[in-house]
Amino acid sequence: MSLPIPQPPAIPFIGNVASLDKDVPLYSYALLAKTYGEIYQLNILGTTIISINSYALAHEVSDETRFKKIIAAGLLEVRKVVGDGLFTAFTEEPGWGIAHRLLMPAFGTIPIKGMMEEMRDICDQLVKKVSTSERFGPHAALDPSDDFTRLTLDTIAYCSMSFRLNSFYTEKQPPFAAAMVDFLIESDRRSTRPRVVQALIGNNAKFERDIKTMTDLGDEIVAERQANPIDKKDLLNTMLHSRDPQTGKGMDADSISRNLLTFLIAGHETSSGMLTFMVYHLLKTPEALRKLRAEVDEVIGDRPVQCEDFSRMPYLTAVMRETLRLTPTASKRGITPIHDTTLGGGKYFVKAGTPILVQVWNMHRDPLVWGEDAEEFRPERMLDGKFEALPPQAWQPFGFGLRGCIGRAFAWQEVSLVLATVIQRFDLSLVDPSYTLQIKQTITIKPKGLQIHARPRTAKP
Ligand code: HEM
Repeated sequence: MSLPIPQPPAIPFIGNVASLDKDVPLYSYALLAKTYGEIYQLNILGTTIISINSYALAHEVSDETRFKKIIAAGLLEVRKVVGDGLFTAFTEEPGWGIAHRLLMPAFGTIPIKGMMEEMRDICDQLVKKVSTSERFGPHAALDPSDDFTRLTLDTIAYCSMSFRLNSFYTEKQPPFAAAMVDFLIESDRRSTRPRVVQALIGNNAKFERDIKTMTDLGDEIVAERQANPIDKKDLLNTMLHSRDPQTGKGMDADSISRNLLTFLIAGHETSSGMLTFMVYHLLKTPEALRKLRAEVDEVIGDRPVQCEDFSRMPYLTAVMRETLRLTPTASKRGITPIHDTTLGGGKYFVKAGTPILVQVWNMHRDPLVWGEDAEEFRPERMLDGKFEALPPQAWQPFGFGLRGCIGRAFAWQEVSLVLATVIQRFDLSLVDPSYTLQIKQTITIKPKGLQIHARPRTAKP
């Protein structure tokens, strides 16, 4: 006999909506896991949504013969811009299969290595901006989240479609970036807002304007490239000129535009959040910062960072892995059972189609895998073969299986380059040493209100 899945008390009509923090639902998901344990369910406006929080259950649902990705709530809103683009497509949609097969090779490690100089171009703009911030006085405060967002957006636009957004050359974020941020926040909020409240808020016009700003840019970039072809192996040319090996079909202009926008959305907030969390963790863990600085000085010294350096920098890799364990920027992912099934060795019955949230934030803290100090930032737990010896799927910040992150190698190279360069070139400190982590949540998460000083290094390695 199966057991009932625990659920907090619900209110008629709205169910458990009030159980979720309206700005940062992550806080509530984490708190509910402390109260209810490895599994609980919520009724969100009439839909039952299950959260799983332990490694054992996350491992069980990482089985693609029984479970598949679900596009629900917030992601259905995001589809209004990117439709069947890779991230928001239903796996059954033919457009997903064509784009997946056509783009997978272009996102491989070797083509990504070929993008190193473009990544460096944008990284140099960050270094220049931070170096000149001293002209605002020795105590000028920097907002790393803002700077890294400019960096990652410009990097993905430049590498994937040879398009310069030039975010470092404007005081405010460019209109496209501002529209995207507002659109993503609004998409997330709409997923837990009753229709009647949505009608009263009446912000549809602004939402539609943001959608238009974004789709217009995607369409313009494709049209411009079709009118003025260039001879370059970027992702835009791959999409324009390649054929799916399975069906022989290419991608049409609409599908290319939706996927370009997908890269911009999926490829910037996740990486900029990761960089910002990393700065936070390092500043709060001086011993880790000291070890990383020593490794950067020994392996790279004061010459430019190269791709070949990364395999000789185990501590850098450990810092990145530990950051994505403790603060995974995609903190949850949605799946559903393909057929009626049970979870936990027959304990809990779940109907086919029921949304299940794999709460990566919670499972990355499971003491059975990570120990009693799971809440601590400790890169050493990723060193000396310990990462490789983890149980299968215990670390999954990039998702899982067929629908796992296509941009993983891209993000890894970009973040390695930027982190190594920042540590090589600047002395970092917190503006407010007593700052403790607060989170800003859209589709992804990042630190909120973090401010730092970054002074060009005086002592050369
Ligand atoms: C999918 C995380 C960077 C493009 C995903 C998924 C996760 C993820 C968890 C699976 C989502 C799900 O199952 O619903 C991350 C993290 C990143 C990162 C943590 C950086 C630290 C990037 C970059 C790109 C990208 C740089 C650039 C293009 C995508 C796309 C998908 C995806 C297109 C959908 C793949 C598919 O379903 O076919 N990512 N991502 N990501 N990511 Fe990333």
